[in-house]
Amino acid sequence: MNERSASSPAADSVPFHLSGNYAPVLEEVTAHDLPLVGTVPAGLRGRYLRNGPNPKTGQSPHWFFGDGMLHGVALRGGRAVWYRNRFVRTRAFLEDAQMIGPDGSRDLTVGRANTHVIAHAGRILALVETSLPTEVTKDLETVGCFDFDGRLTTGMTAHPKLCPRTGELHFFGYSFMPPFLTYHRADAVGRLVQSEAIEVPGSTMVHDFAITERHVVFMDLPVVFDLELAMAGAMPYRWSDEYGARLGLMQRGEASTAVRWFEIEPCYVFHALNAYDDERGGVVMDVARYPELWRSGFSGPPASLHRWRIDIAGGRVSEQALDDRAIEFPRFDERRAGGLYRYGYAVHTPRGANHALGTSLIKYDLRDDVSATHDFGPGRVPAEPLFVPASPSATEVEGWLLTYVYDAARDGSDLVILDAADFTGKPVCTISLPQRVPFGFHGTWLPE
Ligand SMILES: [Fe+2]
Repeated sequence: MNERSASSPAADSVPFHLSGNYAPVLEEVTAHDLPLVGTVPAGLRGRYLRNGPNPKTGQSPHWFFGDGMLHGVALRGGRAVWYRNRFVRTRAFLEDAQMIGPDGSRDLTVGRANTHVIAHAGRILALVETSLPTEVTKDLETVGCFDFDGRLTTGMTAHPKLCPRTGELHFFGYSFMPPFLTYHRADAVGRLVQSEAIEVPGSTMVHDFAITERHVVFMDLPVVFDLELAMAGAMPYRWSDEYGARLGLMQRGEASTAVRWFEIEPCYVFHALNAYDDERGGVVMDVARYPELWRSGFSGPPASLHRWRIDIAGGRVSEQALDDRAIEFPRFDERRAGGLYRYGYAVHTPRGANHALGTSLIKYDLRDDVSATHDFGPGRVPAEPLFVPASPSATEVEGWLLTYVYDAARDGSDLVILDAADFTGKPVCTISLPQRVPFGFHGTWLPE
């Protein structure tokens, strides 16, 4: 129990994102040699970092608007060496600086850095799609805003794609002002070497995209910018029945004029699982697809796993539901980013009252079209599963899944390690954390 936690019982007057384990924790904690049940695999040497929104005041008008907080656990020598959590000390956190000025101008150095944390070319970056990245240290201390030596002039998606073949980082920024969408590529040593405006009909919320070995795939989906909502200080995007939906295919290494658009059924996708070039010259892309999003407030139908097949020569996209269960936070073995892959993992998200989540993870075998479920038991709610390979040469099934699990019975959290090859078996290790880890977004593994 954390007496300084801002947790409060779910009540009609308290929005879901400030209730239960969505509520922020206000204390920054460092603890060493954490108690655990089971064994930390000897091959797991590194740090698991995860980001999420955590308003420093205990209050925020929307789940996505909280200050970024990183929760990290260091593993080495069969031990859980430390846990620590730290706010990302952005200008919004330190100075209450505003992203949008009185004249409507946008300050990219201001943002909450609350969505993801990645490592590339020796830097660790906390990301939120509205703004420039915030560099942090491997001990979770904030270094400051990072703009690729002044070259990055848009925000940076929280979902860049690291190409395992080239070491390049592909990403994009989007804006409510033109250019609405801009593609970027940093080389393996972190220099921003390409920025291209991508022509789209309007300003939409673009959370993720995908790469293959030969292509970049953009999603232009009908969750559109709404000035009235923005003026009211609300989440400034809403569903549109008019905007339509399309996928944009750009060949890697070519100019943005080469983007080719393919109409699809209207939907929304926060997260792609992976994509790859198929043997027929097309592109396959697997996504967590919502039939619609934010038509009326935050509620709506959940996402489920779908596959798009882009027939480039035929100019069309076919869509296939791979599962009908509600999922989010899909992850896979990212050494296969942009290439043929077999396994995907996701949180099963049947929503109860007040956005209560489910207690299981799903493992998809996309080659054999079967799945398995790991249920953590009553009241034990997992978060995004992160796959960590057992070694650089390990196969796609040789590795572990790391996830924070909230235990409602004790209002606390564990870091749980599953064996990817024995997904339904007992956890390899359950590490007890000194405080609750609120439901957040995305994480990464930093090997030693
Ligand atoms: Fe995300």
